[in-house]
Amino acid sequence: LKMTDFERSLIKWYRINKRDLPWRKTSNPYHIWVSEIILQQTQISQGTNYYLNFLRKFPDIQSLANAPIDEVLKVWQGLGYYSRARNFHEAAKTVVDQYDGIIPSSKSELQKLKGIGPYTAAAIASIAFGEKCIVVDGNVIRLLSRCFAMDVPVDTGKGRKIIEKLASNLLDEAKPGDFNEAMMDLGAMVCKPSNPECNSCPLNSGCKAFHLRQQDGFPVKLSK
Ligand code: ADE
Repeated sequence: LKMTDFERSLIKWYRINKRDLPWRKTSNPYHIWVSEIILQQTQISQGTNYYLNFLRKFPDIQSLANAPIDEVLKVWQGLGYYSRARNFHEAAKTVVDQYDGIIPSSKSELQKLKGIGPYTAAAIASIAFGEKCIVVDGNVIRLLSRCFAMDVPVDTGKGRKIIEKLASNLLDEAKPGDFNEAMMDLGAMVCKPSNPECNSCPLNSGCKAFHLRQQDGFPVKLSK
């Protein structure tokens, strides 16, 4: 497999700088599912403790599926967006009842479960199962729009298509999960919305916005 300079630099940076997060020490798809549901609407700083508590209380999908919803909501207390907990509980029951307790491994099958949209399905499929799919979140959009100095607004169908195309072309097919988490980390830690730390960015030599000294001008948005 041929790796582009982009991938090589990104993965090397990630190996050294990746955030030490508990769901990165496992390949258990249930654990990764728990983390991705929590991180849908919760910051890592707050979500990490909930992740650990949730797994202490519901260590596997059977224990979650068999629990009364009130018990699930109790562990969720304080996190907000309680439909996440309700949908997750429903989805766990579906997996236990209809899939023999085996979590589906493809993005398309995962998306059929309650509470799993395209973003979460892509994250679980790539991180837990190594499916070659891209995860596009705000971090990734910002990073790519700067790297390629995208003048098409990112909040349009056309802009979205361009981002997806770029991400697909760059994706490290040997380790799609690492690639996706590396993009999230670089976007969150270096290619930040304001005051990005371009001087310490592993991608700066190829970043068009940096070369133009226009990093604050991207991403271009239709609506502000
Ligand atoms: N946000 C959503 N999923 C994440 C992950 N796996 N790592 C870091 N941030 C995330």
